[in-house]
Amino acid sequence: MSAKIISGTEVAKEIREELKAEVKELVEKHNVQPGLVTILVGENPASVSYVTAKGRTAKELGFNSIQDDQPGDLSEEDLLKLIDKYNKDPKIHGILVQLPLPKHIDENKVLYAIDPDKDVDGFHPVNVGRLVIGEAKFYPCTPYGIQELLIRAGAIEDGAEVVVVGRSNIVGKPIAMMLVQKAKGANATVTVCHTRTRDMKAHTLRADILIVAAGVPKAVTADMVKEGAVVIDVGVNRVGKTPEGKAILEGDVDFEAVKEKASAITPVPGGVGPMTITMLMKNTVRAAKMAAGLPLD
Ligand code: GUN
Repeated sequence: MSAKIISGTEVAKEIREELKAEVKELVEKHNVQPGLVTILVGENPASVSYVTAKGRTAKELGFNSIQDDQPGDLSEEDLLKLIDKYNKDPKIHGILVQLPLPKHIDENKVLYAIDPDKDVDGFHPVNVGRLVIGEAKFYPCTPYGIQELLIRAGAIEDGAEVVVVGRSNIVGKPIAMMLVQKAKGANATVTVCHTRTRDMKAHTLRADILIVAAGVPKAVTADMVKEGAVVIDVGVNRVGKTPEGKAILEGDVDFEAVKEKASAITPVPGGVGPMTITMLMKNTVRAAKMAAGLPLD
């Protein structure tokens, strides 16, 4: 049997419609327009395409959207000054510095400079710590999108065996922390696998929900997946270019083979990717409401 395809594109569209209505109400009733600045240093092609998509979505939803592109040789000091400016700007509720940054800039120093109340990426240690103790203000966007997909697909129940492949600060570690919480849409037993895991397959074969964020094309093959598992593929590997010069994307999961074994699976593209941007928008609306002292849901 072939797996149900979990369309992040469709779920993201639903959430964006909800957000659009929410932004309209915020503007009309409370005179609050969510403001998001995306800061891009340099011209990494993947980063340019992400930042462009983020800016376009923010505009579509009615945000005050600012794309602040900076040259690749911007000094760390000048980047910190820029962040300070946006920290103080009452019209800006969310600040996103696109990663990776050029090598001469200390990434952590930059992330720590963002006001935690404007940290819509959820990368500031204050927000990471809050997430761990179940008091999150912002969830990092990709894990937030994954959890939302699992909830809306009815795929997560208490006590689920979740196996995460990958231990990055952006995806692996935070999704593990979120799904282990005593909370609705969580309550899972979570295993995190990584490059030093001894017998990866022994772990992945136990997974009711397998989340793969390894950054390696086809890292997960059909023999590693339990019959009926739900598979979430976070990989975005640029494996080539079309004759028109568009990037060809491939996930971390051997989609064609694994879909014959799984009960549900996310495609690449059109799975987790569109959710990440959408959850960034959700976080920005939340930040705007927090700043205005409005109730949160
Ligand atoms: N680079 C890759 N993913 C992300 C993300 O979620 N946020 C930021 N700021 N940079 C990224």
